Amino acid sequence: MNTQAEPLAKHTDLSAPSRYTRMAMALHWLIALLIIGNVALGLSADSLPDGWVRPVIDTHKSIGITVLGLALLRIVWRVSHTPPPLPREFPSWEKLAAHAAHFMLYLLMIALPLSGWLHDSAWKDAATHPMRLFDLFTWPRIGYVMNLDPALKETLHDRFGVLHTWLGYALYALLAMHVGGALKHEWIDRKSVLKRMVP
Ligand code: HEM
Ligand code: HEM
Repeated sequence: MNTQAEPLAKHTDLSAPSRYTRMAMALHWLIALLIIGNVALGLSADSLPDGWVRPVIDTHKSIGITVLGLALLRIVWRVSHTPPPLPREFPSWEKLAAHAAHFMLYLLMIALPLSGWLHDSAWKDAATHPMRLFDLFTWPRIGYVMNLDPALKETLHDRFGVLHTWLGYALYALLAMHVGGALKHEWIDRKSVLKRMVP
């Protein structure tokens, strides 16, 4: 009875989902919004009037920690679900580039907030300036880093700061590729991937 249907299903992968789940979409757009907003806050911190710097940096840190939590949740979603496969007609180099960019974006969603948290934990004034998450409760610094010798801590503070900045550069490049790829499929190939990620 089913002799025809089976090879067809194998070929076109009929069982595969054609769109991301609502949870995946919600996490994708919420995290994207928070990351882009946080880049704007991080980059503008130095050029703001004195009275603004502290609240802006404190908000930047709180948003960053929130991204870390949401990214971990997203990775749990990712390992427990199969995402919709990219259209078969895409050349294999494009599929490979998309998968590599997605993997790197997951890495950055963790590495950016983590490097910021390490940078902040190695700050010499950390002990006298507790970090408050959205001014609601105290968020812990990384104790191991906070308790290091002050000279080493100062060096690490600089290094983690440089790492945080460079991870930002990596994010800009990947994001340009990621958004550029989505828009190319939308406008040039006329084979939308955006609608897989939009409710
Ligand atoms: C979504 C996560 C995050 C993103 C995308 C992000 C991005 C950035 C960017 C682009 C800068 C400016 C770098 C520069 O101009 O050199 C920055 C600065 C900074 N970030 Fe983050 N960051 C994130 C999370 C965090 C977290 C979790 C913390 C601490 C808990 C943190 C602490 C800082 C600090 C202290 C600065 C220096 C601000 C200044 O004095 O100019 N960041 N961040
Ligand atoms: C910081 C911002 C962003 C991050 C970190 C990010 C990250 C990701 C990741 C990791 C995936 C792969 C999901 C998976 O299969 O596991 C993805 C998919 C996607 N993203 Fe983003 N993204 C961001 C912003 C954007 C923006 C601004 C657009 C708008 C063009 C966009 C459009 C898409 C689309 C269309 C997909 C689905 C691709 C497919 O069909 O396979 N993303 N994003």
